[in-house]
Amino acid sequence: MEIVHIEDLCAYYGEKAVLHHIDLTVKEKEILNIIGESGAGKSTLAHIMIGLHKVYGLEVKGNINVQKHIALVPQNIGESLDPVFTIYKQMKEVPALRKLSKDEAKRKIEKSLIAVGLEDTKRILKNYPHNLSGGMKQRILIAMAIIMESKLIIADEPTSSLDITISAQILRLLKKINKQGVALTLITHDFNVVKLMQGRVIVMHRGMIVEEGNAKEVIDDPLHPYTAYLLNAVPKENMHYRKDHLQVKEIPHIIKGCPYQNICEKRREKCSRGFPSLKVIDMRKVRCFYV
Ligand SMILES: Nc1ncnc2c1ncn2[C@@H]1O[C@H](COP(=O)(O)OP(=O)(O)O)[C@@H](O)[C@H]1O
Ligand code: SF4
Ligand SMILES: [Mg+2]
Repeated sequence: MEIVHIEDLCAYYGEKAVLHHIDLTVKEKEILNIIGESGAGKSTLAHIMIGLHKVYGLEVKGNINVQKHIALVPQNIGESLDPVFTIYKQMKEVPALRKLSKDEAKRKIEKSLIAVGLEDTKRILKNYPHNLSGGMKQRILIAMAIIMESKLIIADEPTSSLDITISAQILRLLKKINKQGVALTLITHDFNVVKLMQGRVIVMHRGMIVEEGNAKEVIDDPLHPYTAYLLNAVPKENMHYRKDHLQVKEIPHIIKGCPYQNICEKRREKCSRGFPSLKVIDMRKVRCFYV
């Protein structure tokens, strides 16, 4: 059963097109990773998946079918919790708690905190966000998604502001939640995260899907030159992601042909003339003339 079914989605901020003809499904209980560099349109896609596009002033075209019970753990942890209220005050505002008695709501909040590994619930709930570490705040946002009894949690770059050890803990926590039957959409710029999460992966480049497939197969045998480029930016021997490596190649605006042509080592003459469609090859998809 599908929780998200999106066909031919295009999205615009005013005149600026930010997503181009996106087809995307998320099935119950699965893990879908969405990877791409900054500006690829990943957060925009997440906002559309939870129906927030109007709030963000986005105009959309296409078929968008999404079930209720989808929670987003947003990209910026710092801005996601209000600095002037205690954690308790913010957690009790989670819509799923509104109809419950005060005691029932509190029990549910405490249970969710324990589920995300925050055992010292009394202390946590009394605190303000600035008293807590980034990892703790991320866990609180995940606890809020658990309270919603979401069928799908979308986590937008959940580890980008955390150090490596804490990142690994958060990813393990998300995997554990997935094993309990919650589908996950993991947005990242880091193939190490995809390696850890497994499941399926969609590779995005400038508002387009350029490759899609089983995560292990894509990592072992990337078909699109851009996927190979992203994978090469991750050194094998350590878990640090070399952002500097990715920032070297600025992609100029392309009017005609394959959007990747200016940095593609495999380009040929045809690449500047036509626009490659997303081809299906066995269980994979790839947007390149020469695959
Ligand atoms: N509120 C906004 N108004 C105009 N353009 C925006 C807005 N938010 C994002 N964008 C643009 O949309 C594109 C996709 O952004 P985003 O979805 O945040 O990408 P990602 O999450 O992959 O970094 C970028 O070019 C970004 O500059
Ligand atoms: S279509 Fe051409 S430029 Fe685009 S990715 Fe394929 S080989 Fe490279
Ligand atoms: Mg983003």
